[in-house]
Amino acid sequence: MEDPSTRRPKDPSFRRSLALFRAFLHEQDDPDSCYSLLARDAVNQVEAYDGPVAGRTVVDVGGGSGHFTAEFRRRGAQAHLFEPDVRELGETPPDGTVVADGYLLPLYDGVADVTFSSNVLEHVADPQTFISELVRVTRPDGLIYVSFTNWLSPWGGHEWAPWHYLGAERARARYRRRTGRAAKHTLGENLFAVHIGPTLRQVRARDDVKVVSARSRYWPFLAETVVRAPGIREVATWNLLLILRRCPP
Ligand SMILES: C[S@@+](CC[C@H](N)C(=O)[O-])C[C@H]1O[C@@H](n2cnc3c(N)ncnc32)[C@H](O)[C@@H]1O
Repeated sequence: MEDPSTRRPKDPSFRRSLALFRAFLHEQDDPDSCYSLLARDAVNQVEAYDGPVAGRTVVDVGGGSGHFTAEFRRRGAQAHLFEPDVRELGETPPDGTVVADGYLLPLYDGVADVTFSSNVLEHVADPQTFISELVRVTRPDGLIYVSFTNWLSPWGGHEWAPWHYLGAERARARYRRRTGRAAKHTLGENLFAVHIGPTLRQVRARDDVKVVSARSRYWPFLAETVVRAPGIREVATWNLLLILRRCPP
């Protein structure tokens, strides 16, 4: 039987990346379709590394409106959403949603088979402490899925991208001028400049996890290769996906 800890999926297809890109373009006017597609895609990625999630305990940290938790449940997992900001939950959060901070999850050690965190790391001031908490709640040999948009990605400035390349304050001011609304994110408050190189060095230096894969989350090809190119990776990766496996004690 195949050992799931060594499973390595093939690069996904160009068609899949195009579909995700199209969905992102409609994120504002049709968030439901966009996040449902992203959730299906992310759970496919988890299953590609770890096999079917049916019957597994999944902890979704910073899961926002709950599309990922819903998709894990649809596939038979016992998935639980932990989200600190009630404004992010939307009108119909999944049953049993827990309002909790990812730095301090109300969970025993090692309860999760899969700990999942999509696009949260760039929103916390101390990413390594946040990762430590993900590791703590994951069982030995369990899988940890962490993805984030790094600061120098073309999407690094979020709603004020790509103008963040000219400076965060200038980009925020421009967003306000153009839309008449205050931007949701402020650098240093709820968005942080997280870089790929230092994050990889810190995660690889840990003795409680093994890095199974470090790859571009959305690229259709060379997804792992691009992450190996210092400098270039900070712009070209767009979004770094880390697949980690908790080391046995
Ligand atoms: C960009 S949204 C991502 C939502 C969802 N995971 C996704 O991929 O669409 C960032 C989320 O991180 C959450 N977040 C911010 N700080 C957090 C923390 N300390 N612990 C857990 N979640 C946090 C926010 O409330 C928000 O829901």
